[in-house]
Amino acid sequence: MSESYSDVIRPHGGVLVDRVMRGEVREAVRERAERLVKIPLNEMGLSDLEMIATGAYSPLTGFMRKADYDRCVTDMRLTSGVVWSVPVTLAVGKELADRIQEGHEVALCEGDKVLAVLEVAEKFPYDSATKEREAEMVYRTTEAVHPGVARVYRQGDTLLGGDVWLVDWPSATRTEFPELRHTPAETRRMFARRGWRSVVGFQTRNPIHRAHEYIQKTALEIVDGLFLHPLVGETKKDDIPADVRIASYQTILRDYYPADRVVLGVFPAAMRYAGPREAIFHAIARKNYGCTHFIVGRDHAGVGKYYGTYDAQNIFDQFSADEIGITPLKFEHTFYCKKCQMVVSAKTCPHGREDWVSLSGTQVREMLERGEMLPEEFTRPEVAKVLMEGVRRQLEEE
Ligand code: ADX
Repeated sequence: MSESYSDVIRPHGGVLVDRVMRGEVREAVRERAERLVKIPLNEMGLSDLEMIATGAYSPLTGFMRKADYDRCVTDMRLTSGVVWSVPVTLAVGKELADRIQEGHEVALCEGDKVLAVLEVAEKFPYDSATKEREAEMVYRTTEAVHPGVARVYRQGDTLLGGDVWLVDWPSATRTEFPELRHTPAETRRMFARRGWRSVVGFQTRNPIHRAHEYIQKTALEIVDGLFLHPLVGETKKDDIPADVRIASYQTILRDYYPADRVVLGVFPAAMRYAGPREAIFHAIARKNYGCTHFIVGRDHAGVGKYYGTYDAQNIFDQFSADEIGITPLKFEHTFYCKKCQMVVSAKTCPHGREDWVSLSGTQVREMLERGEMLPEEFTRPEVAKVLMEGVRRQLEEE
């Protein structure tokens, strides 16, 4: 597989993982899996399965075993020493756990439909003390109101670790933005075909506003291509839904970006809201997709007031450039200045708050819900329109 895709940057750990079964073997495994204990995956489990299978989580070949989990939580590494900052685990409740034995296979399912086989190498406890330790170390808080921590606390009390083989895709993979769901092998080929030797990846869970556009285009000045890679896995309820966001990205790309310099793809992972730790994880995953650079702006992957504005940038200093492999491009908090008449930061603008246009996610949401147009200094009017319509539709459906 390696010759056909971009070799500009090596996948994390050296090899692009591919755990997708094909052909006759796949049929045989799928049939056998029907007789195994079935584990229904939740939304995040489905996302993680897709990410593992396609190699977006290279070098992971399955859900973490205990030694990798422990080392990841305490040291941000796998037992091999490779950097890995967030746990990728599969939790089950007691009833299921009691039916599963180490050394046996189980079927990972969406509802009743078999998607993958998990070779259960280890079954180990995930009690409340372990969860609290994970919350403290990974999320830097044990508060259950933090959406990532809440998810950890909600999970079952046993973890299953072992390799997976995918035999069928989750339904979201087939139905939600299939034309944008490029795998890492595909994006590497796409970048190679365009002759890009350097590509900057951009993670987002929000519609693109002017500050996003500014940092993307500033980054694009120094690299060959931009990979706009919005996350479409599970997010918290008050984030703008993925379909509305995708419509807004397509709109802004059409009207304000050069088509030959940008690839739009979707990132199937769920949002963990782990701030700094998630920034490392987001960067490494984008390296697997073939990016050489990755944008980390203000409070990357943050939520509420849990992380400092630049914590997600500073965490990269704990590792050598070689260990991370992809180059973080760190951007100051940016916003529009009415006097400068452009997007600026405190580093580039001499004016004061009274001239700066900055809106919080909550303010944006409230304005959209009231049917108010967002200021042009904050969002392109074409984008604001798409968002207003999307939010109105969402309110009508509720
Ligand atoms: S995130 O959870 O995906 O990080 P968001 O979609 O808001 O949230 O941000 C996407 C990227 O843009 C992140 O790297 C974030 O740090 C950066 N970013 C968002 N807003 C700004 C801003 N006003 N100034 C600088 N960087 C920003």
